[in-house]
Amino acid sequence: MAAAGSAVGLGNIWGFPTQTASNGGAAFVLVYLILAFCLAYPAFMAELLIGRYGQANAVTSLQKMSRTLWQKRFAFVVGFGGIICAALILSFYGILAGWMMSYTIEPVARFAGLNSSADWLISQSLVRNLLFTSLFMVLTVLIIRSGVEQGIEKWSKRLMPLLIGLLILLIIYVMTLDGAAEGLNAYLNPDISRVLEPELLISALGQAFFSLSLGTSVMVIYGSYIGKNENLVILGAQVTLIDVSIAFLAGLLIIPSMYVAQAQGVAIFAEDGSLISGSSLVFTVLPSLFEGMGAVGLFVGFVFFLLMSIAALTSSISMLEGPVSYVVERHDMARSKATTLIGIGIFVLSSIIVFNIEFMLDLVAMISTQYGQPIIAMLCCVFVGWIWQRNDLLNEIKQGNDTVEHSLFWKIWPWYTKFICPAAIALVFYHTI
Ligand code: PHE
Repeated sequence: MAAAGSAVGLGNIWGFPTQTASNGGAAFVLVYLILAFCLAYPAFMAELLIGRYGQANAVTSLQKMSRTLWQKRFAFVVGFGGIICAALILSFYGILAGWMMSYTIEPVARFAGLNSSADWLISQSLVRNLLFTSLFMVLTVLIIRSGVEQGIEKWSKRLMPLLIGLLILLIIYVMTLDGAAEGLNAYLNPDISRVLEPELLISALGQAFFSLSLGTSVMVIYGSYIGKNENLVILGAQVTLIDVSIAFLAGLLIIPSMYVAQAQGVAIFAEDGSLISGSSLVFTVLPSLFEGMGAVGLFVGFVFFLLMSIAALTSSISMLEGPVSYVVERHDMARSKATTLIGIGIFVLSSIIVFNIEFMLDLVAMISTQYGQPIIAMLCCVFVGWIWQRNDLLNEIKQGNDTVEHSLFWKIWPWYTKFICPAAIALVFYHTI
């Protein structure tokens, strides 16, 4: 649940539908599904295995696999790079999550008749952004301070089922409205001619890596918390399946919602005829859809943004756990102190972004997700494929899965991680540049 909680976040409920809308609907969905299972899942397995073998944070785990001095140095660069990447992602993710929280409170304020406060909550301002980013960071820090079982696991187990339940209820509701059928058609009927467009391929792969939290040290440290008796091959597949299914469900809610909004008179196509996407999708189209529902809309809006906030929280705790576990294990610092200090450091970074939001938000997001994540994820595959000895690797996978040696997974995956994954990621990275 915790690993699934990390994977399922704004990337699924905001990023995936937005990308789907701006990349031709169903064609993007199809490519995303293929890439998630064929490239992101193998890379995800590499990170989980590194962590479970090393039983420690990303740097220590990678160093345990290394034999020469140069390999150990390389391990440090890759592990530490992932940790920095997680911290950078959290610094901008916290701001977006803060918006989700203010949009959750807005309907409550409106219901209480506090209209001017409600307006303030949904308008961009420095004070609002700082306030809600800090609120979100405090929540993240509190959960991580409580530790792995009492914090991460307990809250993931509570919040994840709640999230899935809310999502399904909202979908059922939207399906009863006018325009939903047209939206469903745009979402599920692929225009096959677009499937091989380079832009679409690149966005889909980037989205799949972001969504599985790869290249950030997060899945390495979560891997280290998984028992040796667990079958990692199955567990990894389950998490991938949950992640992909929730993205798919979110699309099932949001794309039809756009068409319902259109049936109610909201403009959902930009001037060039393409579907509106980006932040305007979530923050303009959906609220106007909710508004059109009258009093019920207040409640639906509240539930929707609550869902976004929950999804963001189970991801942000994993981003903080990466750096915290490193400092606790390598510098022998108490968990609570390390969490608070790193939390404050990341909040300072978020504040700098908030003060320069116009150019820094996109920049930090781009550096960490388009460059940082693919490179680190690729290097993790290189580690597993080229540095880790095949026998050690097999022994690690065998724990909790005795028969793996004769399975299809073992016939394909080691070879795949060695050649295909790094090459494919390098290709995408090359395109991004
Ligand atoms: N996977 C999360 C999402 O989809 C984001 C994330 C990225 C979480 C990197 C942890 C590390 O929103």
